[in-house]
Amino acid sequence: MRNYFYITVLSFAVLLTSCGKTDENMGIANTENSSNNINRKVDSLLGIMTIEEKVGQMNQYNGFWNVTGPTPSEGGAAYKYDHLKKGYVGSMLNVRGVEEVRAVQKIAVEETRLGIPLIIGFDVIHGYKTLSPIPLAESASWDLEAIKKSAAMAAKESAAAGINWTFAPMVDVSRDARWGRVMEGAGEDPYLGAKIAVARVNGFQGEDLASPHTVAACAKHFAGYGFAESGRDYNTVDVGTSTLNNIIFPPFKAAAEAGVKTFMNAFNELNGVPATGNAYLQRNVLKDQWNYDGFVVSDWGSLNEMIAHGYAANKKEVAELAVKAGSDMDMESYAYVEELANLVKEGKVDEALINDAVKRILKVKYELGLFDDPYKYCDENREKEVTGSQEINEAVLDMAKKSIVLLKNEGHLLPLKKEGQKIALIGALANDKTSPLGSWRIAAEDSTAVSVLEGLQSYKGNTISFAKGADVVTGKTEFAIELNVNTTDKSGFNEAIATARKADVVVMVLGEHGFQTGEGRSRTELGLPGVQQDLLEAVYKVNKNIVLVLNNGRPLTINWADAHVPAIVEAWQLGTQSGHAIAQVLYGDYNPSGKLPMTFPKSVGQVPIYYNFKNTGRPVLPSAGEVFWSHYTDQSNDPLYPFGYGLSYTSFDYSNLQVTVVSEKEVEVSVDLKNTGKVTGKEVVQLYVRDLFASVTRPVKELKGFELVELAADESKTIHFVLKVNELGFYDNAGKFIVEPGDFNVFVGGSSEAELHASFELK
Ligand code: NOJ
Repeated sequence: MRNYFYITVLSFAVLLTSCGKTDENMGIANTENSSNNINRKVDSLLGIMTIEEKVGQMNQYNGFWNVTGPTPSEGGAAYKYDHLKKGYVGSMLNVRGVEEVRAVQKIAVEETRLGIPLIIGFDVIHGYKTLSPIPLAESASWDLEAIKKSAAMAAKESAAAGINWTFAPMVDVSRDARWGRVMEGAGEDPYLGAKIAVARVNGFQGEDLASPHTVAACAKHFAGYGFAESGRDYNTVDVGTSTLNNIIFPPFKAAAEAGVKTFMNAFNELNGVPATGNAYLQRNVLKDQWNYDGFVVSDWGSLNEMIAHGYAANKKEVAELAVKAGSDMDMESYAYVEELANLVKEGKVDEALINDAVKRILKVKYELGLFDDPYKYCDENREKEVTGSQEINEAVLDMAKKSIVLLKNEGHLLPLKKEGQKIALIGALANDKTSPLGSWRIAAEDSTAVSVLEGLQSYKGNTISFAKGADVVTGKTEFAIELNVNTTDKSGFNEAIATARKADVVVMVLGEHGFQTGEGRSRTELGLPGVQQDLLEAVYKVNKNIVLVLNNGRPLTINWADAHVPAIVEAWQLGTQSGHAIAQVLYGDYNPSGKLPMTFPKSVGQVPIYYNFKNTGRPVLPSAGEVFWSHYTDQSNDPLYPFGYGLSYTSFDYSNLQVTVVSEKEVEVSVDLKNTGKVTGKEVVQLYVRDLFASVTRPVKELKGFELVELAADESKTIHFVLKVNELGFYDNAGKFIVEPGDFNVFVGGSSEAELHASFELK
């Protein structure tokens, strides 16, 4: 009895230096946020929490106003409000803006028994109100500094609006362009994906998580979500250990090593076990093998979805399975808050599991500085100053230019002449100020992007005539509303044709509306949606001088365009400054240097298609007329555009590839790069490796290094890479990382089809 009393008093003493209610002690807490001190404070706080309060920390509610998932049957504002006041809520999502955040934080801090502040989560995917390009587009820049800066700007703007936790980056590798969420990731490659994951985590979290300009990041969706069967969102995932360890895990592991504060699990089942209830993923791999000490939040309602998966019979079982599997926080399933305390009382769940989860959550709150000042993200003046600031707009414009990929430029149609040209600008997307914002932009207002029309009009020397031609989609384009694709209305074709006929150059902006990609937006066709292909062909009949500007969130099968249209620019969904970025590239004020982070197929039937495929036992045509080899009878195996591909207004020449095994630990690779064109340009020099024979077969090529190099016309430079021996290894089928001696090929060039090669032997 005496001991218990002593511990409680001690707990309160430590707590007084840390809890949201103790303003007079803030100074002490501020100087004492080392990790040991945080652990001490967390333990003390835990010591005075009731089981209901502990479980409350593991409960996350959606704000009363916005939803980013199906509305749950229970809940409602009154229910949530009551739970907030009781201290049964640890986090809220989709509460935004200083005023709203302050209101909910005030309840948590001032009305609950312990005053533990809320952590406020939000999908700050590629910006908050001012948007950068969609993540897939940013990844096409291969520019890690720019990507990091873009995340830092997103953190700054969202943190100024009261948010302190983003559900980003999505680090799911995906090889399937049918999956709508490829727009949210870094594409198909685990190496590039891992580098970008680290850049984004560092950008969001910065050097100092307690700064009011940074937010906690979240590596999602652990794991396998990008491998949904047939590219249909939320569908079953069934992958072998080799793919899991060598392709899916690396970006997650890299994010964990970079110190990402949280992970999100996933909607999908993986090999028969839903990710949310998957102890192998969350406990064995993440928390044990990788020693991860952050917390895992579920995806929206994913605990309860285990019932539909056929894995748990009811909410009670859901809660038990999820907590045992290592899911620390329940997003909008109401399962923990309703069932966990009873499960502990009945002895079905060990309280140690709850304590572990709560400690992880409280630790992040301490690290964010929320106990020092729960209102640190709630400064109206900062919100006004930072939102839409010039600094952020300049950064998103820079990122947008860097994300553009030049796919084709026959006869140097681009860059356009700046004077004396009659330009026909065609396509509904050319005049769209909402679509460039993409589908993940729940804080940005409609019509706040710079359209291509506006971008081109800011150059005064040419005449621009705009004709819509045809709508891409009709009806409302609000968040979460399914769009009607225009498959019938060609009434604007004649005007477009007449406009094109009179022009020197036609710029056609075609592709997907921003809401045609993203969560729940899988497609079975990958061509230009609706009547756009017909529009393109109709315009081509009267004027072949076409620059096709693509707006899209996934690879498209644009074979006809590739065969006929002289210039093609991949401009994705580029965010707030989209139109300016596109205009600067079209006019040559910015020389494009982006490279595709995902393979473009020639046909949906080739999907999944990716550069790091396995050779198979029958990779080539044995002799003319043979049929028994790995191929299609109606389409080649080749992609339309390979991974890593992208052109420039200049050209580059690679020569003199040298490979030297300098020690048992290192291989040096060098290559000479020359700018052989007439203007300064940037090239992403890519290094690929092939391990020729291994105990588990290896892909025909694996990216192992890249460097972004800028060269003036005629300038040359020798580029050096150092391959560490660890980068030549792989995970075997027991999940063990091994490096096997033997022969390797090295390829260096400007895409995954790099031909310059050499070889070496690892002894
Ligand atoms: C569901 C999505 O899968 C996830 O990525 C997102 O963070 C949550 N909804 C919250 O909006």
